[in-house]
Formats: sequence, structure tokens, C-alpha cells
Amino acid sequence: MQLKDQVALVTGGGSGLGQAIVERFVEEGARVAIFDRSQERIDEVVKALGDKVVGIAGDVREVADNNRAVAECLKAFGKLDTFIGNAGIWDYSKTMVSTEDGDLSSAFDEMFGINVKGYVLGAKAALPALYKTKGHMIFTASNASFYPGGGGVLYTATKHAVVGMIKQMAHEFAPYVRVNGIAPGGVGGSNLAGTSALSQQGIKFSDIPLDDLMKQMLPLERAFNAREYAGAYVFFANRRDNTPGTGGVLNFDGGIGMRGFASPNMGADLVEKFGAI
Ligand SMILES: NC(=O)c1ccc[n+]([C@@H]2O[C@H](COP(=O)([O-])OP(=O)(O)OC[C@H]3O[C@@H](n4cnc5c(N)ncnc54)[C@H](O)[C@@H]3O)[C@@H](O)[C@H]2O)c1
Repeated sequence: MQLKDQVALVTGGGSGLGQAIVERFVEEGARVAIFDRSQERIDEVVKALGDKVVGIAGDVREVADNNRAVAECLKAFGKLDTFIGNAGIWDYSKTMVSTEDGDLSSAFDEMFGINVKGYVLGAKAALPALYKTKGHMIFTASNASFYPGGGGVLYTATKHAVVGMIKQMAHEFAPYVRVNGIAPGGVGGSNLAGTSALSQQGIKFSDIPLDDLMKQMLPLERAFNAREYAGAYVFFANRRDNTPGTGGVLNFDGGIGMRGFASPNMGADLVEKFGAI
């Protein structure tokens, strides 16, 4: 029960990684407000978890919706300890050259609106309540916050922007509110949506052969599911383990940056030396 008596607000908590964070936080003793644009997804999570959670439907791009989400959380649970900015969309690695000028402009606004403005507005709405509890903000970054190829130029730019935003907020809010990020790699069980501006509504994340891809690409040689990522959020949210941490972004991606030039991993000689496991 690492989060006993703690209260969190999770954007995008109706699906994928956000849903796994909500479930894990409840397991750890927290009460959680879920802010998502899908009422249907919220209803399913609330039905499964009962009165430990409350749902608020709205759009992270809207100031009023962010303020309402925080107000509803405070009304239900009386305080806020951790704000988790997590709602996001992807560009399905659409290249610049294959995108028409007008589409690129509107997709830029949509992508930055959700992935960056949504985080900034959520942080602003949550700040007064977090100041009172000396709480935390945690933001979902991505492998695309550090490396190319985890999306197209729009997604990669938004996730790099998230790192700058975390650092600036950590600087501005210290010593009262700590601000950190988690940078996951591919998330098994995600429903990550594409942009409307690039007509990507029909594409499904589950159609990507994530298990095979990650096995080939990652030093750790497998894909990780949403629940396996959720523990990192518990580490940053619990008040015992993370006291010195602010402004950090945890690479939590199966070792993408450890691939080296020659091969994804070098572990073959461990097998020779110690035997197969
Ligand atoms: N899926 C991956 O492989 C992967 C990898 C690295 C990082 N991420 C990041 O993880 C985060 C969560 O993504 P996921 O994979 O769980 O996707 P998901 O689609 O399963 O969950 C995201 C949730 O955010 C909600 N949402 C989207 N736009 C919204 C808006 N404007 N207002 C309110 N809610 C909105 C959706 O309804 C959805 O329930 C995102 O920030 C994403 O960039 C995902």
C-alpha cells in the first residue's frame, strides 16, 4: 500500500497506460480521478473499480475542462497529491514528405494541442491543490522524447517539448511541487489514436505487431504491457522514495538507448559463459 490515503488525477485514464496507472494506484491504496475524452471508457473503469475512482469527461485542450476535472477531484476526495498528465495521440510515423502542407499545419495544431497544451493546462489547473499538499506532477513522455523514429516529426517534436516543459516547471515550482516524467517505449494493450487532421481515425494501434518488433529492436528483447510501466508512476508518486527527485525523466523503454552500433544487445557471450536460461 505505497499510496495509502493519496489522491491522484490521471488524464487519459480511460485506456492503455493511463488505465493501468489508475488500476495500480487503486491497488496501492490511492483514490483516483480519471479525466478522459471518452465517457464510455471512463464508465468501464469506474464500473470495475467502484468508489475509489471518479470520472470526468472532457478535452485536455480546454481550460474549463481541466479546471472542472480538478474541482471534481477535490469535491470527491478533498485533496490532490499527484497530477498525472498522460493523455496523448500519435502520428503513426507519418513522414513530412508524404503529408500535404495544409494537413501538416492542422495536424501540428492537433498534436501539440493534446500532447503539449493539454499537459500545460492540466498542470496549471492542478497547481493550487498540489501546492497545498506539497504534491507531485508526473508526465508521460516517450522514447520519442529522446530519439528519432518513434513517430513522425510532429509526435517527436511534442514529446521533446514535454521534456523541456518538465524541466521548466520543476524549476518554477520548487521547492513546493516536484515535477518528473516517465519515458515509456511501445506499450502493449494501448489504443493510442492517430490524428483526425491526417485522417488516421481508422488505424488501430493493436494492428502493429508490437511483440515481434520489440523482440527484434530492444536490448531487453520483448514488448512490455501497460501494467509493467505503471510501477514507475508509483515510484514517483509515493512520498517515501522520491524525495530528492525533480525535473527528471526516466528512460523506461526496454533499453532503446543501449542498442549500440553493432547489435541490439551483446548478451550472447553470457549464455556461452553461464549456460542458457
Ligand atoms: N502506446 C505507446 O506505444 C506509447 C509509447 C510511448 C509513450 N506513449 C504515451 O503514453 C500516453 C498514453 O497513451 P496510450 O498508449 O495509453 O494511448 P490510449 O489511446 O490507449 O490512451 C490515451 C487516452 O487518452 C484519451 N485522450 C486522447 N485525447 C484526449 C483529449 N484531447 N482529452 C482527453 N482525453 C484524451 C483517450 O480517450 C484515451 O483514453 C500518451 O501520452 C502516449 O504518447 C505511448
